[in-house]
Amino acid sequence: MRVLSADERSIAEAAELIRAGELVAFPTETVYGLGADARDARACAAIFQAKRRPFFDPLIVHVAQAEQAAELGEVSALARRLIAAFWPGPLTLVLPRTPVVPDLVTAGLPTVAVRMPAHEVALRLIRAAGTPLAAPSANRFGLLSPTTAAHVREQLSEDVPLVLDGGSCPVGVESTILDLTNPRPTVLRPGGVEVEALHAVIGELSLDASPRERPHAPGQFKGHYAPRTPLRFWNGQEETTDAGLLAFERVEPGVRFAAVEVLTSRGDLREAAGNLFAALHRLDAAGLRVIYAQRPPERGLGLAILDRLRKAERATHGTDRSP
Ligand code: TXA
Ligand code: MG
Repeated sequence: MRVLSADERSIAEAAELIRAGELVAFPTETVYGLGADARDARACAAIFQAKRRPFFDPLIVHVAQAEQAAELGEVSALARRLIAAFWPGPLTLVLPRTPVVPDLVTAGLPTVAVRMPAHEVALRLIRAAGTPLAAPSANRFGLLSPTTAAHVREQLSEDVPLVLDGGSCPVGVESTILDLTNPRPTVLRPGGVEVEALHAVIGELSLDASPRERPHAPGQFKGHYAPRTPLRFWNGQEETTDAGLLAFERVEPGVRFAAVEVLTSRGDLREAAGNLFAALHRLDAAGLRVIYAQRPPERGLGLAILDRLRKAERATHGTDRSP
């Protein structure tokens, strides 16, 4: 895999690869994506192979303009309101699909997930390629999401020819997925747009982000976002020198762990989300017996953080390494 600093030249080269049916990893405001031409089923199949992702888990399609969404899905008045309020940005809308989208991308569902990322590199790549990009997060299926080009290289170096390096992803957790094909709008995954902000724009909505073995609506796998090290919630008591602590806020001096990562020094949920995956990658690389995680408050981006931690806990359940 080549890692190229994202500039006009490397973006043009990446766009060339996309048009030739190849894969390119690229930064978005949430996490790095692994992109292919969304209209090319063969190219999209390579995404599933590179990620070792099961074919029943559909992909998000990324557009560079709101109008491009209408080629892929049916944009209702409600969808238009959400687009006006949150795009570009970390909100994915699940819409009734059009025939332009290959079955492979939607895993045969009658719906398609679409978003317009708020990241210059992503937008320029989509424009230069001249096609919407199907792109899941650029990690192996079920493992920690990548928020730097180095994270992408660690997991996918053999399977992807190029990653555009645009630095760290500022939001740091994936997009909020909102399903508009139910009678009531339903959040399938809490993410970068706060549920409270959605509520303020569209009123009533449901939350259905419960993790499942095999999601009835995708985006809900219970084994997602997992470090290789077992993750447990911290009860404020355990304290061992072979464990790591993922602290939401600064912890009492005197609390002893082999490694401590503090997500925010000032109770700032956005800052905490932005640091989440990089901190987990570091703790996971530290050879610890277990990672204890402090619970964030259950509001705003705290919901997205808690969702990722719960899935990591479930995914590593029963995998305790004995001391
Ligand atoms: O922030 C993000 O959303 C990042 C960046 C790269 O844009 N992408 C991302 O993709 O997180 P991925 O594949 O890791 O997660 C997308 C989730 C999947 O779990 C998938 O099941 C769900 O979106 N999804 C895709 N299409 C769907 C659909 N038609 N209905 C319900 N869920 C869908
Ligand atoms: Mg993912």
